[in-house]
Amino acid sequence: MGSNFIHHILTAYPNYKVINLDKLTYAGNLENLKNVENNPNYTFVKGDIAKSEDVEKAVGEGVDVIINYAAETHVDRSILDPKAFLFTDIIGTYTLLEAVRAGKAKKLIQISTDEVFGMVRSMNEEFTEQSRFDPSSPYSASKAGGDHLCAAYWRTYQTPVIITHSCNFYGPNQYPEKLIPLAVTNLLEEKKVPVYGKGEQFREWIFTEDHCRAIDAILHNGQIGEVYNIGTRQRSKNIDTIKLILKLLSKDESQIEYVKDRAGHDFGYAVNPDKLMNELGWQPQVKFEEGLKQTVNWYKNNENWWKKIKSGDYLEYYKKQYKER
Ligand code: TYD
Repeated sequence: MGSNFIHHILTAYPNYKVINLDKLTYAGNLENLKNVENNPNYTFVKGDIAKSEDVEKAVGEGVDVIINYAAETHVDRSILDPKAFLFTDIIGTYTLLEAVRAGKAKKLIQISTDEVFGMVRSMNEEFTEQSRFDPSSPYSASKAGGDHLCAAYWRTYQTPVIITHSCNFYGPNQYPEKLIPLAVTNLLEEKKVPVYGKGEQFREWIFTEDHCRAIDAILHNGQIGEVYNIGTRQRSKNIDTIKLILKLLSKDESQIEYVKDRAGHDFGYAVNPDKLMNELGWQPQVKFEEGLKQTVNWYKNNENWWKKIKSGDYLEYYKKQYKER
């Protein structure tokens, strides 16, 4: 998401300067930004948002805005081992808030998730900006911790923050641990797609470009101290999402492998995006079927990108996550 947003900003605003602070953990990949490496408006700093010296190095004398895309995000990894989530998602957010409080940035935009609200039981229920936090996984609990800190800093110190809660992203460059890129790349490798439980759970999906446009709108017109939900109302049961992908790759349902359900698996996520639409005029532009088609084509055309990833450490993770369940 972060690399897609950097591309978006450098293209849409040729006079903006972007400093990218990235720890380059397993999911980070400098290849995603290779084509802007020599852009004079782009600077890369390797570092950790949870370390104040790294944050200080990145912000230097000061910046206009810090946008916090840095997070540990994968629920299954958080179930296997929560610790890294607490450091990056809570201490990392705290460290960025301290930089803003010290006047090193005019505002912080916190990129967060609808998962902090827990789950809905039907596609007709929706999370609003006022919904109560009720996180289910160590991942969503740590994001909720970071978000609570943002709200508390605003209330206590008037530290300028804006919080966003988005539905599930999908699109190019997504690490193939998440459902959609995992399914697409497994099928391209003639492997089966692991579906948790019966695949009855549902998610709401936003294409990367639409999310970039939402953050662009919030960056330029969002109100300090406000919370914005980012959603598309494009909701799909996991099994239906997998069937769409099978169809796009001309595969049949024998490629589905039903596996043990995720512990504490949230049934559904559904976001009410009316505030963002009505106040900032944002609208999603990419329909789920169209975005899926583009995503499948991207993975088809970029085998080198994901084949390199799906080796080494990834295989260790895959074995742990899927073989020993
Ligand atoms: P995921 O991409 O991990 O996102 P999140 O859990 O944060 O929404 O998973 C999306 C949905 O797909 C979720 O309901 C879990 C399910 N899922 C599978 O059925 N199989 C898989 O291999 C993965 C990774 C996810």
